[in-house]
Amino acid sequence: MEEIELNIYKTFPSDFLWGGAIAANQTEGAHLEDGKGLSIVDLMPNGLLAGIKEDSTDLNLYHEGIGLYHHYKEDVAMFAEMGFKVFRTSIAWSRIFSNGDEMSPNEKGLEFYDNFFDELLKHGIEPVVTLSHFETPWHLVKEYGGWKNRKMIDFYIRYCETVFNRYKGKVKYWMGFNEINNIYTSPTAAGGILVEEDENCLQAIYQASHNCFVASALATKLCHEIIPGSKMGAMLALSAVYPNTCHPDDVFDTYEVRRRSLFFGDVLLRGAYPTYIHRIWDENDVHVEMEDTDLDLIRTYPSDYLGFSYYRSTTHKAGTRILGHTGGIAGTPNPYLDATPWGWQIDSKGLRYVCNELYDRYQKPLFIVENGLGTNDELKNGEINDDYRIDYVRSHIEEMKEAVIDGVELMGYTYWGPIDIVSAGTGELKKRYGFIYVDRNNDGTGTFKRMKKKSFDWYKKVIETNGEDLK
Ligand code: BG6
Repeated sequence: MEEIELNIYKTFPSDFLWGGAIAANQTEGAHLEDGKGLSIVDLMPNGLLAGIKEDSTDLNLYHEGIGLYHHYKEDVAMFAEMGFKVFRTSIAWSRIFSNGDEMSPNEKGLEFYDNFFDELLKHGIEPVVTLSHFETPWHLVKEYGGWKNRKMIDFYIRYCETVFNRYKGKVKYWMGFNEINNIYTSPTAAGGILVEEDENCLQAIYQASHNCFVASALATKLCHEIIPGSKMGAMLALSAVYPNTCHPDDVFDTYEVRRRSLFFGDVLLRGAYPTYIHRIWDENDVHVEMEDTDLDLIRTYPSDYLGFSYYRSTTHKAGTRILGHTGGIAGTPNPYLDATPWGWQIDSKGLRYVCNELYDRYQKPLFIVENGLGTNDELKNGEINDDYRIDYVRSHIEEMKEAVIDGVELMGYTYWGPIDIVSAGTGELKKRYGFIYVDRNNDGTGTFKRMKKKSFDWYKKVIETNGEDLK
């Protein structure tokens, strides 16, 4: 009889990828330096939930971010001090192709990431790179309609080919589109499209998504060809959604809400459109244009792993907004959970639930690439005693460990915002996630000075002990 090899863990595997995660647009600043062009968030002064404000004179904190473009050496040294094994960031597409449709890349932009990745590698930290994290070049959205237009596939693939070739000796872990399932709530940020008032919104969303699926398949193919042994991941926002009550209507509606998000995983990881999507398309007059070879490409080149973000859980009541809800803004309060000042309900058990849900569904390695607590921090006598952040991370790591023991294949954990960054949702700096404080404020004041919070040493110890010492 053939012996079956089972991966049974009682704790985190020894090669578990501990680290932190950020995005270029929320940190780098230098938004027009060294040939960088405008990306969509450069026109979103109030964050992605408020959308594009082309002529706004409001302060846009993304423009300077936390100055990582100039401070990266200092920052990487601090990440190394915490013992990071990996560091997730994105490449700002508009640094490499300022408008997005040029034939040749911007050498200065390429050099920046060469230096940044070298700095990480010098400290023994492996880069994990997102190719598109709410950063579509603005020109592509304005001139071509963004991902609604099939031409985007060519622009994206030219960009991918450029960076795969350039960083092939440096980067092994990649992700295509950050939280592509947030296209329902944030079509411009997550899907790189503008939806006109008189347009069938779902038609736009599903056409753009299809174009992204084809692009993802082609990028996966290229990535494997150019960088042998590389891994291309899908990346989805998958905070938990629970039914508001045990009423069967709430339960089924919640199932449907969840499925709208999992749809993206179904296509990207299983390599096929699920049957349930046809009813949704029929009932909403959606007609997705596809070319003959598209479905074959999607089937042949699925993503290697599923990266996802998990911050909280929400509850869903039948009859409230279905499309657009990915565990995000809407929802009814859960009386069993505390919430942050931003109303995000803290639910560590939900992380174990989601890990199991996703592994049961896909049987592909999972990578928690975002999880963290964004809240106010108070500087007292030159210190920040963020015990609340330690509590949040501790409880989530405890549940993550349970998930590993449950049999979930978990590759790693990158804490979101190990250094304070500009919020994606609201474009502010007051919502701080970091183990490292950055002196920059909502009104744009501040010295950009970095400082350790209490959680810094705590997370260091967690990594040192491979998640065993959580005290
Ligand atoms: C995720 C995004 O949706 O949530 C990040 O991938 C973002 O870019 C994170 O920063 C937290 O959201 P916020 O609004 O608190 O920055």
